[in-house]
Amino acid sequence: MTDQKFNIEKPYAYEIKGGTPLRGDIDISGSKNAALGVIAAAMMVDGPCTLENVPDISDIHVMFELCKSLGATVDMIDIHTYRIDPTTINTYKASGALVSKIRASYYLMGALLGRCGKASIRLPGGCNFGDRPIDLHLKAFRLMGATGAKMTDIDSGIVNLKAEPLCGAKIYLDIVSVGATINTMLAACKAQGKTEIINAAKEPHIVDVANFLNSMGARIKGAGTDTIKITGVPVLPGNFTYSIIPDQIEAGTYMVAAAVTGGDVTIHNLIPTHMEPLSAKMREMGYQIEEGDDSIRVYKNSPDDEIYPTSVKTSPYPGFPTDLQPQTVVLLCMAQGQSRMHENVWQNRFQYVSELTKMGANINAFERVAWINGISGFRAATVEATDLRAGAALVCAALAATGTSYITRAMRIDRGYEHIVKKLTGIGANIRRVNVEEFSEDNEA
Ligand code: EPZ
Repeated sequence: MTDQKFNIEKPYAYEIKGGTPLRGDIDISGSKNAALGVIAAAMMVDGPCTLENVPDISDIHVMFELCKSLGATVDMIDIHTYRIDPTTINTYKASGALVSKIRASYYLMGALLGRCGKASIRLPGGCNFGDRPIDLHLKAFRLMGATGAKMTDIDSGIVNLKAEPLCGAKIYLDIVSVGATINTMLAACKAQGKTEIINAAKEPHIVDVANFLNSMGARIKGAGTDTIKITGVPVLPGNFTYSIIPDQIEAGTYMVAAAVTGGDVTIHNLIPTHMEPLSAKMREMGYQIEEGDDSIRVYKNSPDDEIYPTSVKTSPYPGFPTDLQPQTVVLLCMAQGQSRMHENVWQNRFQYVSELTKMGANINAFERVAWINGISGFRAATVEATDLRAGAALVCAALAATGTSYITRAMRIDRGYEHIVKKLTGIGANIRRVNVEEFSEDNEA
């Protein structure tokens, strides 16, 4: 990678002087999780395509590097627009270290199986919140005729798939899985005959990947419902420009940041219906949520308005997104009384609670449930971003805290938040990036 700012190995921290209500307008970037699926899907196309509204974040840059390592041509037109030509792909193998840097590298299994009939891919990386199996992905490939798709076939961390030919099949997903839905959809686009995915995930990014593939010539129906039907086609002609949807989770994070600081922020370039689970909960808590066509304003009528506790349970879309769980816990800390958060998607997604406790949070987390007791305010501290969304939650808490906080391992946050320092500064936050050399315990608040 040429751009040092995307060297996710190099540790740096965010220094945040909190306690100022955020005010003003902020724009949302393209969706990380949609863009990752769409870029993988672009690897299957039989001609070039242009992607717009691609977020300028490190996970995307890793994904582009991976595509280039396969031989694909990726040309940047501007920081959000890329022309991708997969016709230069010359291998079906992706086994280098880049693969284990991100979760979405597993989409190359479906994409290369579809394109080449073979895929040899290292197991993916991604945030660590417990067991992240890929058994459903492999089951789908197996039912479509691929060999090498049993867990016991994984050889030194490499999945070697081969399907000659790849055939459509009826696939029931035992658990609603975003990744398995997208991976199956990718492979099925080029399989012979019809595939039906039953109990499919319905997240906005599933629909976005399906819309992209259909624009390229695929035949996918029902994306966004729990049954997706795909009729395989021999060729995906491409030659189309496609714009990625806005990032639901980035938007939700800024909604929380506005609320937790007692601010008044209008968040633009989002899809309000995607935000409904969070908007509904914030209204229940007493926040004002004003929806425009592609914006949401978050504010409180009066600084003295009571903030009510509530209970939240994460679940697949249209349920409450697990990727907004840590940020929402920060918000629940501001309620007067006890709230409850039930994490229904991931086994171990409360690892950040001990960091939040250093900032004054009063939370009891056990297995998948956290009880959150309201506090009068956060205090500044030095805390570690244990993963991407946990890091975003700590940023929200630090923005609300009086004093100077340091969020270490901030490169984890930059995996998914475009230009977070610039965006937050634009609505009045005092945040800057400090390198490890500049950051020492003496700086601790
Ligand atoms: C995607 O992960 C997102 N990542 C995650 O966002 C998000 O938390 C998750 O979906 C749920 O919404 C990307 O899109 C790159 P799953 P994914 O397959 O696809 C179980 C972020 O912060 N499961 O929907 O890996 C699994 O253990 C990231 O942006 C199996 O049992 O998640 C989990 O309990 C973090 N077997 C549940 O399904 C499988 O084969 C949902 O996982 C696959 C999944």
